[in-house]
Amino acid sequence: MTAQPSDIEKAAGVLRAGGLVALPTETVYGLGANAEDPAAVSRIFRAKGRPPNHPLIVHIGGAEQLDDWVEEVPASARLLAEHFWPGPLTLVLRRGRRVPLEATGGLETVAVRVPDHPVALALLSAFGGGVTAPSANRFGSVSPTTAQHVRTELGDAVDFVLDGGDCKVGVESTIVDATGDTLSILRPGGVTREDLEAVLGHPLAVPVTSRVRVPGQHPSHYAPRARVVLVEPEKVAAEARLAQELGHQVGVFLPPSLADTPVKAHAVVALPASMAAYARGLYGFLRELDEQGCDLIIASLPAEEGLGLAIANRLRRAAGPRPTV
Ligand code: TXA
Ligand code: MG
Repeated sequence: MTAQPSDIEKAAGVLRAGGLVALPTETVYGLGANAEDPAAVSRIFRAKGRPPNHPLIVHIGGAEQLDDWVEEVPASARLLAEHFWPGPLTLVLRRGRRVPLEATGGLETVAVRVPDHPVALALLSAFGGGVTAPSANRFGSVSPTTAQHVRTELGDAVDFVLDGGDCKVGVESTIVDATGDTLSILRPGGVTREDLEAVLGHPLAVPVTSRVRVPGQHPSHYAPRARVVLVEPEKVAAEARLAQELGHQVGVFLPPSLADTPVKAHAVVALPASMAAYARGLYGFLRELDEQGCDLIIASLPAEEGLGLAIANRLRRAAGPRPTV
């Protein structure tokens, strides 16, 4: 059930006491702690199984609070904050003194955003401080877009789960590095490159490798249990049949252009034509195919424009090489 005012008060109390609260945002659910409490922040890393040198995002209640958390705000960053917050945009800026190094993985920069979700904003307002929160999943796995995903994946590792329904964007925020002379996109996400460029009035770089550490850019992130294989859209049905005949339990992401094609597979997800609907459903589709027992997922990349850029990025990471254990 959606969080009530009494739940918000309770969650704020948990944060004040150094506990962990799962909170809904418009992108994915976050695993939150008081950003200024190093011990609470350390608990996040343990709960996720995430290496402690991977920096977190500090969530704040409004663009007017930005100066409290960072050393300085260049004009271009201010413009983006005022235009896109609350919303799925994260700005990387020079760390303010208020931010402990535990939250930034030891970096002198900090990632900040204002989430566009009434429950998250109510929590930030009741709590009064910043909430540092990565996506509320185990390190490397698929981000949660419902409260149930969080409960299933993190269980007792989280002290309180605020339910805010299904996340309406479905992929994580766009991360923009605003620490240098020119802005660049570190991770494509819910705010499109085209929308950022329209506001800035100039093109933005999307570097393949970055001088800043972005663990989300490592191979095999956002990955379901099933192995993900990317093929050309017109080959999806043939590859699925072949793999199924070889004995795999195949899950298929069927592009809308192939909606009428018969597919031989264990499970089929008919993808929506709208990129917004695809982004919203992406992580749920991956979880669904895992739950149905698929060991292989055949998918293709959407056109890398608009939200398609973020979707393609996540699919590539999901298909990336797995650590050998
Ligand atoms: O939509 C989102 O951004 C969600 C919701 C919960 O807000 N959060 C999220 O957090 O995706 P997480 O921890 O899963 O991903 C945060 C990304 C990581 O790739 C991290 O490396 C990058 O932000 N990041 C954080 N601080 C950074 C910094 N100072 N410099 C460069 N990258 C940074
Ligand atoms: Mg994550």
